[in-house]
Amino acid sequence: FNVTILPNAEAASAAVADKILSRVRAKPAAVLGLATGQTPRRVYAKLIDAVANGEISFAHATTFNLDEYCGLTCSHADSFAAYMHRELFDKAGFDQHKINLIDGAAADEKAEADRYARLLVQHTVDLQLLGIGTNGHIGFNEPGSSSMSRVRVVELSEETQAANRPTLIELDQVPRHAITMGIADILDAREIVILATGQAKAESVYRSLREAPDDTCPASHLAGHGNVHWILDEAAANLL
Ligand code: F6R
Repeated sequence: FNVTILPNAEAASAAVADKILSRVRAKPAAVLGLATGQTPRRVYAKLIDAVANGEISFAHATTFNLDEYCGLTCSHADSFAAYMHRELFDKAGFDQHKINLIDGAAADEKAEADRYARLLVQHTVDLQLLGIGTNGHIGFNEPGSSSMSRVRVVELSEETQAANRPTLIELDQVPRHAITMGIADILDAREIVILATGQAKAESVYRSLREAPDDTCPASHLAGHGNVHWILDEAAANLL
């Protein structure tokens, strides 16, 4: 495993941002796989700074997000689409036409998952950014997800709902369903960078890096990919 442990979340986020910046510098039309949640916020802030300082342009990059809550329109503040626009896209010069998001409000969720799957197979993600759930999920591939899983509608575990509840802006309850890229889709990326910070992630990081791959810890399936870089702060690495 390629694991980097840095003193704190700030340093870990800077290291992840640097990886994204080097990828896009080397290949301006790179396809980026992006995540939401608390963890990547500092990374995105650094990308915005780099654009503001004239160090990089994302105008030619294509993006695919990992997942989206079902039932929320892209204009709902708690949707991952709104998060992406707020935290990154609108401030970093991304081309609207090259941004691919899942429509959580689609009337036919299965058809929306199939549409996204068809788009994904037409691209190869150059760099996939991941966070990890306290239960080891990646994207919304909850425990029980196989390494062969593809884009689909899923039910969120109680643990994930509880972890995400404090992050909601307008909603009282976390939506129970989501559409997510599957583990096989994630493993199709050329390069994967997974960022974990804070003590709450220590156990799932330990299981992913120190135990045999198993569906009960979805991130453990990353072991089957030859180009994964784990970037951790000391708290998330503390059981290793
Ligand atoms: C978000 C996603 C999730 C998060 C994970 C960690 O798009 O796919 O897997 O990466 O739930 O979330 P935070 O960073 O909020 O702890």
